[in-house]
Amino acid sequence: MTEADRTRVAIVGAGPAGLLLSHLLAASGIDSVVLDQRSREEIENTIRAGILEQGTVDLLVSSSASSRVLTDGTRHDGIELRFAGEGHRIDFPGLVGRSVWLYPQHEVLRDLVAARLAAGQDLRFGASVERVEDADSDRPRVVGTDADGQPFEIDADFVVGADGSRSVVRPTVTGASTGGYFREYPFAWFGILCEAPPSSEELIYSNSENGFALISQRSPTVQRMYFQCDPEADPDALDEQRIWAELQSRVPGTTLREGTIFQRDVLRFRSFVAHRLRRGRVALIGDAAHTVPPTGAKGMNLAVADVVLLHEALTALLLENDDRPLDTFADVALRRIWKAQHFSWWMTSMLHVAPDASDFDRLRQLGELRSVVESEAGRTYLAEAYTGWPFETRLA
Ligand code: PHB
Repeated sequence: MTEADRTRVAIVGAGPAGLLLSHLLAASGIDSVVLDQRSREEIENTIRAGILEQGTVDLLVSSSASSRVLTDGTRHDGIELRFAGEGHRIDFPGLVGRSVWLYPQHEVLRDLVAARLAAGQDLRFGASVERVEDADSDRPRVVGTDADGQPFEIDADFVVGADGSRSVVRPTVTGASTGGYFREYPFAWFGILCEAPPSSEELIYSNSENGFALISQRSPTVQRMYFQCDPEADPDALDEQRIWAELQSRVPGTTLREGTIFQRDVLRFRSFVAHRLRRGRVALIGDAAHTVPPTGAKGMNLAVADVVLLHEALTALLLENDDRPLDTFADVALRRIWKAQHFSWWMTSMLHVAPDASDFDRLRQLGELRSVVESEAGRTYLAEAYTGWPFETRLA
């Protein structure tokens, strides 16, 4: 027996984009069902990035999605760019009057899952969506199998693919499982979590002869750090001593505070934008629509910006029968997406050492870094992009 259901918005994916959208829709009086093939535990424990733009924090707080971000997160008023052995601070409030917050994505997810369950949200873990049907009709449908292996169908007024970079909803919108503009990079990040006090008050993005390193943080006792590595690197192949030597050699001038490494991973670098973000009554948001390399710390923030726009479009469509914001949704979203793509690509290419870089390339790169840090206009562009452009709404 197939279980048949009906909702206004069927949201595939219980990551930050899907959960936040269901939260904002509920506040506007619109019901949704959120489906994810993963378990609650898996969703809440996946280690992802940690930087939230000012606008993301403001929205999480004002919508009551998370108040913990203000108590358990840490405001950062700047970052350091380090190259040629010298550090250069980018002072966010001084340049653009905004800041960012370090609050790991899995904490945002814990807050969102708790808030949605407390509000009685229909949130189904272990539910695999197989396909979306009738995207061009007024009654699209999501078809899949639930946690008990029972087939289900959900009829909706609208379907949202918020199901990450391996989205099953994407082919419905783009016509192909990849279906986008794509770029791969010849390097990756070797990431660690370790038990140690912070090595620096602010994040350090370091360009060195040996490649890039990022010294980030998680808490007073846990730190997150990354160094540039080969995309094929095996995270288990290096012993702890070698990892510390790699990291230390890339941040000359700072003595890293070492401690037990309890998690390690290799993050591949990709840039991706789907060819289409909407077909009929199906839309893509978050990583299903785009992927950025992590150097600009834009991933989750871009997903939140999509949610703001789609929430506005869906309230107009479903409460006022006005489809104009939905018609401009993709164009408006893509403006920010491509700005963030550019920023993420720029930070990445400016700070990493490509495996085939010539002496000319290296010296030009140092010239580029100097042009940024020695110019108020350069620092301001970086600060504007890093702290996040204001959320844009309808096309003017
Ligand atoms: C992190 O703390 O995981 C982090 C911070 C900044 C980035 C990327 C990752 O640009």
